[in-house]
Amino acid sequence: MYLQRLAITGLRNLQGVEISLGSGANLFYGANGSGKTSILEAVYLLSRGRSFRTRSLRSVINHQRRDCTCFGSLEDDQGLKPALGIGVSRGQDGEFVFKVGGEQVRSAAQLAETLPVQLLNSDSFQLLEGSPSHRRSFLDWGVFHVEHGYRHLWSRFQRCLKHRNSLLRHGRIDALQLAVWDREFVQISEQISEFRRQYLASFKPFFEDVCRRLGINLGYTLSYMPGWDQDSPLEDLLRAGLERDLKSGHSLTGPHRADLKIQVGGRMASEVLSRGQTKILITALKIAQGYLLRSSTGVQCVYLLDDLPAELDQRHRQLVGKLLQELEVQVLITGVDADDLQFAWPSSAVMGDGREKVLKVFHVEQGCIQAIE
Ligand SMILES: Nc1ncnc2c1ncn2[C@@H]1O[C@H](COP(=O)(O)OP(=O)(O)OP(=O)(O)O)[C@@H](O)[C@H]1O
Ligand SMILES: [Mg+2]
Repeated sequence: MYLQRLAITGLRNLQGVEISLGSGANLFYGANGSGKTSILEAVYLLSRGRSFRTRSLRSVINHQRRDCTCFGSLEDDQGLKPALGIGVSRGQDGEFVFKVGGEQVRSAAQLAETLPVQLLNSDSFQLLEGSPSHRRSFLDWGVFHVEHGYRHLWSRFQRCLKHRNSLLRHGRIDALQLAVWDREFVQISEQISEFRRQYLASFKPFFEDVCRRLGINLGYTLSYMPGWDQDSPLEDLLRAGLERDLKSGHSLTGPHRADLKIQVGGRMASEVLSRGQTKILITALKIAQGYLLRSSTGVQCVYLLDDLPAELDQRHRQLVGKLLQELEVQVLITGVDADDLQFAWPSSAVMGDGREKVLKVFHVEQGCIQAIE
């Protein structure tokens, strides 16, 4: 499935935009402040029910308007499935409406299932340089889309963690109640850990292949750190760490503290890589997730690449373009300069089954988008 039609009203400087997208590469170029990132923000909103730039969606709504709406029509480029509408609207009063196929849906997770997106922007550097939560989100994106029970398991864990933390903060601890929550905590933690471990094991060969095709031969190693010492049972660690947990009012051991260690030649990748090398590594990680998703579920995600040319030399821009073409996904790419963008994408590409994907180019100017023939 790909996003064939995109309609945006009242989102930042995009007052009333309606465009028809191609199922392959879609390039958006234009001056600073013209609205390029806002287009990607609209697609992200459709997929996640939130922005990647701000926690408060109020700032996303155009200053002159009371609400913003994004609507997309998902189409199967092989014509096997009927088109599906997906929509999100948000009012100044905070009211949210998510719709899939004309029906209102309650959770943003249902949007994500319908339209999985992978975003690559300047914040993606956090995947290497930021806190472990960024790397957990990376892993969990993969597990969520591959393992259907994962979302439910994760919400059970959140509930359990909340209860345990509230007991810890309660002052006098009720040992019996704590033992009940600890039992559940251990059981779910081990399942989450196992899902993430299995995902990482399936991910590694795809990642290695993508690295090879991007010409990376630095020898990266990826290791999952589950959030507790694997040599001891989690139950014992919870008991031994109770004093510490009580003092902080939080559970300091468990899968909510997990990390994905990314190393190169025995050193942390974040400490040795240049800015461009970091971007290439992050791009490889995200593209490999798309390859794994396609291989394990047949689902294609949409890639949103904000200012792709930045930090990448011409060879890497071309290699990234080639990898995404071979993945046969829909890509929305922004950049200031048309030549920098067009350079890496042929005007049309033939897929494995003979279908042709035609490159689409759009000029963005003061919130208006014009398709370039
Ligand atoms: N709530 C809002 N209402 C109206 N305009 C807004 C709002 N929020 C941001 N803007 C404006 O919307 C425009 C679009 O910004 P956007 O980040 O999409 O531009 P861009 O084309 O990606 O620029 P750059 O090349 O600098 O990254 C900017 O001019 C910004 O000032
Ligand atoms: Mg931008």
